[in-house]
Amino acid sequence: INFNFWEVLTLFLSLCTLKVTIFSRKHENWPIGSIAPCMPKDGLTEREKKIKSVLKEMDQLVPNVTFTNVNTTTSAKNSVATILNHKDTYCIGDQLTVRLDMYDNLGNRKKYGGDFLRARIFSSTLKAGTSGRVEDFNNGTYLVNFTLFWEGNVALSVLLFHPSEGVSALWAARKKGYEKIVFTGMFANGTSAVFTECNFNVTTKAKVCEYLDHRDEEAFYCIKPDNVPCEAFIQLKSQNKPISYLSVLEKGLFDRYLIEIGMTPDSIVISFFLTDSKTLSNGKCKIGMRSPSPSGYVWQNQWNPAFCTLSNFKTTDQINACLKGKLIYLLGDSTMRQWIEYFIRTVRSLTYFNLHATGKVQTMVALDTARNIQIQWKKHGHPFIGSSEYTVKAHKYVSREIDSLEGNRDTVIVISLGQHFRPYPMDLFIRRVLNVRKAIERLFLRSPDTKVIIKEENTREMSIDPERFSDFHGYMQYLASKVLFQGLNVAVIDAWDMTTAYGTYDVHPPDHVVWNEINMFLNYIC
Ligand SMILES: *[C@@H]1O[C@H](CO)[C@@H](O)[C@H](O)[C@H]1NC(C)=O
Ligand SMILES: *[C@@H]1O[C@H](CO)[C@@H](O)[C@H](O)[C@H]1NC(C)=O
Ligand SMILES: *[C@@H]1O[C@H](CO)[C@@H](O)[C@H](O)[C@H]1NC(C)=O
Ligand SMILES: *[C@@H]1O[C@H](CO)[C@@H](O)[C@H](O)[C@H]1NC(C)=O
Ligand SMILES: *[C@@H]1O[C@H](CO)[C@@H](O)[C@H](O)[C@H]1NC(C)=O
Ligand SMILES: *[C@@H]1O[C@H](CO)[C@@H](O)[C@H](O)[C@H]1NC(C)=O
Repeated sequence: INFNFWEVLTLFLSLCTLKVTIFSRKHENWPIGSIAPCMPKDGLTEREKKIKSVLKEMDQLVPNVTFTNVNTTTSAKNSVATILNHKDTYCIGDQLTVRLDMYDNLGNRKKYGGDFLRARIFSSTLKAGTSGRVEDFNNGTYLVNFTLFWEGNVALSVLLFHPSEGVSALWAARKKGYEKIVFTGMFANGTSAVFTECNFNVTTKAKVCEYLDHRDEEAFYCIKPDNVPCEAFIQLKSQNKPISYLSVLEKGLFDRYLIEIGMTPDSIVISFFLTDSKTLSNGKCKIGMRSPSPSGYVWQNQWNPAFCTLSNFKTTDQINACLKGKLIYLLGDSTMRQWIEYFIRTVRSLTYFNLHATGKVQTMVALDTARNIQIQWKKHGHPFIGSSEYTVKAHKYVSREIDSLEGNRDTVIVISLGQHFRPYPMDLFIRRVLNVRKAIERLFLRSPDTKVIIKEENTREMSIDPERFSDFHGYMQYLASKVLFQGLNVAVIDAWDMTTAYGTYDVHPPDHVVWNEINMFLNYIC
């Protein structure tokens, strides 16, 4: 895998007025209510209908293209990026607009869009970065807008993550089945153990143990071991199954991973110019605020949201003053667990309380009895992908966890779903998020004061097996999640945008990024 970052473009920005562009999306009106599933005449429950409609919306964002030769697919090397509003001086808050003209490997213009691109401006010396907004004209031309947030030099990077043909192939393959991951269930049989195959869909003539949630229309199955009751199911682990729904031709698209798109002109230096500065003031970060795109920028490694003013919780005393009396439930995957690990490492007055659960993926609790602080992390229920065993007893769906909480103004729930859903058809993710939304609606009926925060999923390694774990799958989930949580009085920590801005390519972002997520969280709850 070869990709080169290069910093050809150097811009000097001056300090002028700071303005923020709020990115408005569709789907303003989410029908709130109707929690109980009802079965209409066409045989689809309300949930199925909603899943279908979100899926259809996602379908419309993905190209449906076929190709017979990799030579006619998008080439980053041949494609060109041009700065449109080339100026001698840019001001903070200005937009930098870049046009992308895409060409295939033979040098012919692309006639359709759908390429999966990632655009970022950054400065390594200033430890600064922010993401670009990509607009697809569906004719091989794209516009990328960057908001210039900081003063100083800027380097530009536009990555062709997957050509549109690859996007189309990944999206089609994703729909084809649940088999990419295989689970091994462990059943207790007296003092010994029995192992069988488990999954969302097991095709077998043998007897099957069904683990169903009728209300939420969720299901998980294991092949039933002979003479062992289904209730004896205790542990689970998973591994990748060597199966692919991509053709050999399609796989060829992922051999040469993303490459940087060429730039013209090669080098631009813009003179420095200083005028009045106005500070951004949208008030303190609060739950219910909408997160625009880009949602902020990094400067000196510090995350600055574009839509609100952040206080920095610098000392342990400040953090403890915020956490005092709070019950914090972190529900999600290991990116959510990074938070509790960070707290335990850095806030010395928090004690890790060992629950002696089985395996490495166990529930974690941190306590400060003097200040009455409890922080708890729990995994999010099926599917939880991992090669080490975990108990299935403390393995509930997030909706059920939320249902089990009384809630009050000192209760905070943070939810993060995504990475483990990437290898599955997307209706699984949509169903789960929809069920979480319904649980939040129920929670707000009994306790409108409970604070709920959604941490979006983050970007990950570019070298990862694209069919199972590509960021393209994560990006579609990120978009679906925004649609599905629309209209709820929740706060969003846009980890997707943050990790894009930081330029981390790690499923577990580094500590300084985790800290900036937590700092956002502290700002929302205190
Ligand atoms: C994609 O296009 C092909 C050929 O035009 C068509 O047969 C197929 O149903 C389309 N797939 C989707 C998901 O729209
Ligand atoms: C792609 O184009 C190049 C240059 O024209 C040619 O040498 C090569 O054989 C083509 N590859 C395929 C698979 O057609
Ligand atoms: C990009 O900026 C231009 C000029 O400011 C504006 O016309 C266009 O709508 C913007 N596009 C996006 C996707 O934000
Ligand atoms: C693509 O569409 C945009 C917007 O309509 C237009 O400005 C641009 O020139 C088109 N590009 C090509 C190559 O036709
Ligand atoms: C399970 O497999 C059957 C047969 O292949 C298929 O009809 C059904 O849609 C699958 N269900 C799920 C949830 O994948
Ligand atoms: C469960 O244990 C019983 C008694 O030891 C044994 O006869 C039986 O074969 C075991 N079942 C399986 C599926 O291993």
